[in-house]
Amino acid sequence: MLESLNKTEQQALSKLQHAADSTALKEWRSRHLGKESALLQALGSLGSLPAEDRPAIGRRANEIRRALEAACQQRADELRGTEFDPAPAVALDVTLPGRPVQRGRLHIATKTLRRIYAIWAEMGFQVYRSPDVETDEYNFELLNIPAHHPARDMWDTFHTDTPGIILRTHTSPGQIHAMREYCPEPIRVILPGMCYRYEQITARSEIQFNQVEGLAVGKNIRFTDLKGTLSDFARRMFGASTGTRFRASHFPFTEPSAEMDIECFLCSGEGCSVCKYTGWLEILGCGMVHPTVLQNGGYDPCEFTGFAFGMGPERIAMLKYEIEDIRYFWGNDLRFLEQF
Ligand code: PHE
Repeated sequence: MLESLNKTEQQALSKLQHAADSTALKEWRSRHLGKESALLQALGSLGSLPAEDRPAIGRRANEIRRALEAACQQRADELRGTEFDPAPAVALDVTLPGRPVQRGRLHIATKTLRRIYAIWAEMGFQVYRSPDVETDEYNFELLNIPAHHPARDMWDTFHTDTPGIILRTHTSPGQIHAMREYCPEPIRVILPGMCYRYEQITARSEIQFNQVEGLAVGKNIRFTDLKGTLSDFARRMFGASTGTRFRASHFPFTEPSAEMDIECFLCSGEGCSVCKYTGWLEILGCGMVHPTVLQNGGYDPCEFTGFAFGMGPERIAMLKYEIEDIRYFWGNDLRFLEQF
């Protein structure tokens, strides 16, 4: 009996060396340590042995059992790490959908600006950048607005500690920068950027807002070019059937000056609360560049003419998306920003 037990041990140990993966090891285990194994059978039938043989055989059988268990464990340790384990300890369901990743988005003002750039680019207008911090000279004087001129009331100004240095109240000073750089070449540029006005903040007016200025200078540019170009812009921006009208206005740096209205795209001119029952929406200010301004830019007004315009992208976005309060734009409220 002892001899056959020893043999069982020898065989089991030699076979263990051939168990090359966890499946083989499992099989080995059930064969040599399972209920049906010779060893466990022997342990189970101790009771049928003569009483004097039982202690020795029982002891030996248990010894072998422990030895096989230990050898099995050792083999398992050897195999671990050499094998890919398809079912790791923490169950991972790779078929589950992933967790949503919070994505940022463009600010509605940026989106509107980019749309405006794209339309003007199609029409051959390049973006020209000019500074937010300006001199009184560029912001007013060179634009035909001398000190103490009553027209200055249109642009309440943020002053700095340095006399004569201000935050630009409109993008028009960029006209002078562009003219002085391009002169005597013809010009077709748009001048986008932030403007600042020292005003009461209300639903309709903010102390900072974007403007997109436009400037075309060349020979034989007429008011019809201004009307045609701006009407074309309106159709590209608001839809092919958008009607426009030009109302006489006044700006010191353009002569003649006008304001362009578009047919209300919400009620198609019928009259609604957005257009205040007029059927028209005011979109921009414009005009033929004043001869004095052309001269200040370096162009001879007898030879050159030009047109200019200025529009507010936030205002356009407000009309387009029926946003009733301009303060939402810089309020940084995600509930507002996430809607676009
Ligand atoms: N700068 C003017 C404003 O801020 C707009 C404008 C620009 C008007 C160019 C005419 C020509 O109101």
